[in-house]
Amino acid sequence: MRSLRLGLPLAALFTGVALLFTAPTAHAADTPLRDLAAAQGKVIGTAVTGSKLTGTYGDLAGGQFSSLTPGNAMKWGTVEPTQGTFNWTEADQIVAFAQAHDQQVRGHTLVWHSQNPGWLTNGTWTSAQLGSLLQNHISTEVGRYKGEIAAWDVVNEPFNEDGSYRSTIWYNGLGSDYIANALTWAHAADPAAKLYINDYNVEGVNAKSTALYNLVKSLKAAGVPIDGVGLQAHLILGQVPATLQQNIQRFADLGVDVAITELDVRMALPSDSTKLAQQKADFKSVVAACVAVSRCVNVTVWGFTDSDSWVDSTFPGYGAATPYDANYAPKPAYHGIAEALGGTTTTPPTGACTAAYAVSSQWNTGFTGQVTISCSGASLTSWKVNWTYGAGQQITQAWNATCTQSGASVSCANASYNGTVADGSSVTFGFNASWTGSNPVPTVTLG
Ligand code: G3I
Repeated sequence: MRSLRLGLPLAALFTGVALLFTAPTAHAADTPLRDLAAAQGKVIGTAVTGSKLTGTYGDLAGGQFSSLTPGNAMKWGTVEPTQGTFNWTEADQIVAFAQAHDQQVRGHTLVWHSQNPGWLTNGTWTSAQLGSLLQNHISTEVGRYKGEIAAWDVVNEPFNEDGSYRSTIWYNGLGSDYIANALTWAHAADPAAKLYINDYNVEGVNAKSTALYNLVKSLKAAGVPIDGVGLQAHLILGQVPATLQQNIQRFADLGVDVAITELDVRMALPSDSTKLAQQKADFKSVVAACVAVSRCVNVTVWGFTDSDSWVDSTFPGYGAATPYDANYAPKPAYHGIAEALGGTTTTPPTGACTAAYAVSSQWNTGFTGQVTISCSGASLTSWKVNWTYGAGQQITQAWNATCTQSGASVSCANASYNGTVADGSSVTFGFNASWTGSNPVPTVTLG
């Protein structure tokens, strides 16, 4: 299955996004977040869904980020749905993709109260049986990916909000020793992997984060292999804790690394330019807090596009929580991350509509492409998108736009029904075209 590394979809190699802002001036392509992060000595990551790692999603996941976390693929319920029957397909796929794109993988997660298989949660186990099930699970999964995982979220969400231990199958059956044992077993299976405890609502200084702090301190004192803490950072618009950096620093001072592991900032829908500007400030301040502390090593967003976020289904009426919109256009939040990482690009202040070109699938003689026109703080009542093909590509068919091609010059105008692009919304049109030799992504202009 490791050969998947060589079998990446061809489209992933050719797909690209070209952007041009209509106001105030055209911006050169932004420096990828992973390059900005590297210059700061940081890693920038995203949670991913393995089946989506092609086309524009794969292009952005591979091009912008230096770390991937499987959103669900490495959880116990996914990898061992039936006792003794393993399914590593999606996990292997993500690891192979990461290796092909020179990315780290954060393994997520080995010991949790959620997304466990039914055979485990419905079984009746003695304490000894439960302990050996857990040890086998950790040894098997960590051992399988030995040398391939930079860091494991070994224990996920062990605390209640008041800092007491959460009542789970593990705590109830094994007592709090399950945490030290899990870390020890994981270390035995892959001594090089960094081992983390990961939780939510531990971003600021509060009762829960203090319980985590005290746990890490006692684990360190006892010589248990603990390398880091993960602050999930599932945040609400405008509510970045004021003590975030102080909290990161106090963990760093204990001698462990810190990672922001699941960053998103949800807002009441619909989004508008005011909310998107606040969200930009929120992403920026979280990333800046990590940049300010040398032992904060990684910021990972929990999905990079609003089309791949857990928020919408979990919090009805809330969403738009990630740095890219559902059509893969970067939102102000993206620029907030870039700026906190030292990037100099800025979101056009007002009146911005953008056009993004992407190859969504490609075969030996042809390809399907799409262009998305998005507006934020501005709107359109009609549009025209122009580009010049650099390698003889020829449009054969278009939908949701009227396209003409003269030589290498392509011009696509809105159809009668989709000229309006409201503030905060987008319109997409598609086309088929032929290519030979190479299929470079053109720069598009929006007129
Ligand atoms: O795979 C099934 C699919 O076959 C079925 O048709 C569909 C219908 O509901 O469900 C699919 O499973 C869903 C799974 O995500 C994969 O998409 C589950 O219902 C859904 O509950 C599950 O949600 C995941 C959630 O953890 C579960 O708590 C989210 O994707 C995942 O992003 C989220 O991640 C967690 C972290 O692991 C820990 N921290 C909190 C974070 C957010 O909840």
